[in-house]
Amino acid sequence: MPPRAISAIPVANRVRGFVYAIRNIVAEARKVEAAGRKVQYLNIGDPVVFGFHTPAHLVEAVERAMRDGQNGYAPSAGILPAREAVAGECARRGMPMTADRVVITSGTSEGIELALTALAGPGDDVLVPVPTYPLYTAVLSKIGARCAFYRTDPARGWLPDVDHVRSLITPATRALVVIDPNNPTGATYSAEVRRALLDLADEHNFPLLADEVYADLAFDGPVRALAEANPDAPVITFSSLSKAYLAPGWRAGWLAVGRSDRLDDVLAGIKKLADGRLCSNGPMAHAIAPALLGDRSHQAAFRRALRERADLTHSRLNAIEGITSVMPSAAFYAMPRVTLPPGVTDEDYVLSLLRATGVLCVYGSGFGTDPADGFFRVVFLAPPVELAGIYDVIAEFTRNFLAGRGR
Ligand SMILES: Cc1ncc(COP(=O)(O)O)c(C=O)c1O
Repeated sequence: MPPRAISAIPVANRVRGFVYAIRNIVAEARKVEAAGRKVQYLNIGDPVVFGFHTPAHLVEAVERAMRDGQNGYAPSAGILPAREAVAGECARRGMPMTADRVVITSGTSEGIELALTALAGPGDDVLVPVPTYPLYTAVLSKIGARCAFYRTDPARGWLPDVDHVRSLITPATRALVVIDPNNPTGATYSAEVRRALLDLADEHNFPLLADEVYADLAFDGPVRALAEANPDAPVITFSSLSKAYLAPGWRAGWLAVGRSDRLDDVLAGIKKLADGRLCSNGPMAHAIAPALLGDRSHQAAFRRALRERADLTHSRLNAIEGITSVMPSAAFYAMPRVTLPPGVTDEDYVLSLLRATGVLCVYGSGFGTDPADGFFRVVFLAPPVELAGIYDVIAEFTRNFLAGRGR
């Protein structure tokens, strides 16, 4: 028999549009490491990597669940104690909720994917902020729906431009994504803006998808539920143990569907999709009730640590000639802007920074900003002394880069 020609097996087209720059850029960092340079990873928002510890009572709850034999499949919507705890937490935050409208998910991420899949398909639009958390654009590309990007404005503390949101609404609009507190900008939104966004969803009858994974990490204390100002507006909220409970690897999250009966079919659709993946991580879900009902003292300490790092980040980045940065009010991200010469992109700047210094940030265009605008995202979870050293390195690199050296 003649030898068979072996060619590469093709990948489905949809993979091309599934872009998640926060992790995609790690391939570049690995090359830099292979060349012998130490890389400082400021790309992924994982507090555990930077020495923040998962609370012991949550680790014990998962251990206990495993020892007690809770290792089988769970109900696809999740175990009742977790769903009840989520419903209670929503209600405390100002969003009336019942356990039958909660689904336990593998992180906020799976909740987002389930909801978008249940809501939108080819030819449909979903309103998404720019800059955005890139999972939204990636999932919408995968399911063939379009992103209608609305502006958030660095000159106004990265608040959404509500008039722009309104101008993008068409009969094809299926949902409005709101990330408050925000990644990548670290912004929290004003009561007026939240109310206006809720009213748009209510009037135009599409769900507001409220990504509230950072709600407990605003430096001034937890922010209230987005749905609070109008609990009858169609809102689906998402969160997890990843950030505020310092357990991102557990993939323990939830979504909760607002009380409006307009959302009943969507809830049924989400549950139907959830049946297909059987359940989320079983033992980890046993930590959800202890997290939401138990001791949260770690959060106050975490918020203090974040504020200290945010202050340092803000003052040190703004001291660099050519860089401006808006003060974050939550989470562990800042979105500075470097004034780039014509023809140079944010990716050029970030990759040159990586190759020259080993400091890994993510270019703004990975979050949907214009490559020429020069935004990049910094994760400021490292200890303050380390961060100060990193900002010295960024300052020196930027001076050289903008002077045309090393480009
Ligand atoms: C805005 C936002 N939503 C969702 C997620 C995903 O979180 P989870 O670990 O709960 O899937 C992240 C993670 O960084 C995020 O920043």
